[in-house]
Amino acid sequence: MPKIINVLFLAAEAEPFVKVGGLGDVAGSLPHALRSLSNADITLDVRLVLPYHPVVKSDNLRPVGIFALQRGDAEIQVEVFETLLNGMPVYFIGGDPIRANGSVYSSDSKLDAEKYTFFSLAALELPRQINWLPDVIHANDWHTALSLYGSLTKTWEEGVRHIASVLTLHNLPFMGPDVSAILESYGLKLAQTDLPDWSRVMPSPLGLWASDAIVAVSPTYAKEILQPEYSCGLDDFFQSRRETLHGIINGLDEVSFNPAEDSALGVNFDITSLEKRAANKGLLQERLGLPRESKTPLLAMVTRMDIQKGVDLSFTALKSMKRSNWQAVILGTGDPKLEDAALKLQALFPDRINVQTRYDAGLARQIYAGSDMLLMPSRYEPCGLSQMIAMHYGCIPIVRAAGGLNDTVIHGKTGFVFQKAHHMSLMAAINSAFKIYADPEKWQTMQRVGMAQDFSWENSAKKYLELYQSIIK
Ligand code: GLC
Repeated sequence: MPKIINVLFLAAEAEPFVKVGGLGDVAGSLPHALRSLSNADITLDVRLVLPYHPVVKSDNLRPVGIFALQRGDAEIQVEVFETLLNGMPVYFIGGDPIRANGSVYSSDSKLDAEKYTFFSLAALELPRQINWLPDVIHANDWHTALSLYGSLTKTWEEGVRHIASVLTLHNLPFMGPDVSAILESYGLKLAQTDLPDWSRVMPSPLGLWASDAIVAVSPTYAKEILQPEYSCGLDDFFQSRRETLHGIINGLDEVSFNPAEDSALGVNFDITSLEKRAANKGLLQERLGLPRESKTPLLAMVTRMDIQKGVDLSFTALKSMKRSNWQAVILGTGDPKLEDAALKLQALFPDRINVQTRYDAGLARQIYAGSDMLLMPSRYEPCGLSQMIAMHYGCIPIVRAAGGLNDTVIHGKTGFVFQKAHHMSLMAAINSAFKIYADPEKWQTMQRVGMAQDFSWENSAKKYLELYQSIIK
């Protein structure tokens, strides 16, 4: 008889239903990767649970249950729907607090607090509704962290079986709003914790406190959050949880991000036909209205416009590099101030820089396939995905040695890694890249080594499986 591990996997977003950022990529891939590890000895029955956001794209939703949550004097109705995605059951939890909030993440933190507390607590009732008991609850970031707190509280108050719990941290600074009043109205008290006082009313610290294991999305990030510089005030807490704090790097969807098959590209290529890549550069320059110069290094930024990503450092560096010959393409949306700064930079170098302040997955792929170097000088980077895509597409990343960037890019082999979050350090790294770029043979060797890197999800999924096994009692 195979052993079965049931995993309830909770996230605010997941491809292909709804995606805002990197979390959506991970929650879209990891549950499948885990299920694929099933073999003769073990079955991983991972099931994904998502909020039924108004923007969710899916037909074939089947209603599987309606129940109520008591909130103060009122009852809030919860509707559960199910669909199958490549054989995996996916559940959507709907209700007024989710409907009331049009977008996945609202700028109104009150709406978000209501929505994700409701979602996290409703998800705990789901197993009973579908008659399927999880061995592990795997939550991601603050939005679903309260499920772990709720689960532990239940164990204490109702004497029910303890379910093992994991919280994966994708972005620590986002800990969620003060939910103490909402929790209380759902009948959950704030426990005595060893968390700093200011944090014990926030979802992600409460989830961290309640979880059996904490996972940071790269080994370096797991080390960084033990330090005051990156811990957002929780370094003492993390130090006390050293034994249960793990770093597991995210994978890349290597089927989707494969330059040999990618239908968004003008010309497909692989490691054995790298010479075909050049055509993509020409097409990209043409599409962007940049001069079609094959030898000029084309720098790229594909990024959220966020101070986290160090985009301002790239802007300052480019501004200071008037004398050397280069072109740049900048694709991204986010902070209006940074978008504005990007457009100003374009105005300064209209024949060299092209800026697109929007989300465009197809153009992003053409940029990875056609540009020469990717700039990613992140101030912090829990894992990062763009650098991995870039390497697989033969675009050499220039990154700061933070979090997952430090774990995925090898300095001098697959990219250029610098230490200080300062535009001068970035400029020095760009100049080193230009030197190698001038020697096509050396450059192509780097491209090939990058393209051959194994970023598959399988390795990471195996680490998660080992972790589940170690915490299931
Ligand atoms: C967040 C982090 C990013 C990480 C992603 C998925 O977006 O900023 O570094 O890759 O989550 O874990």
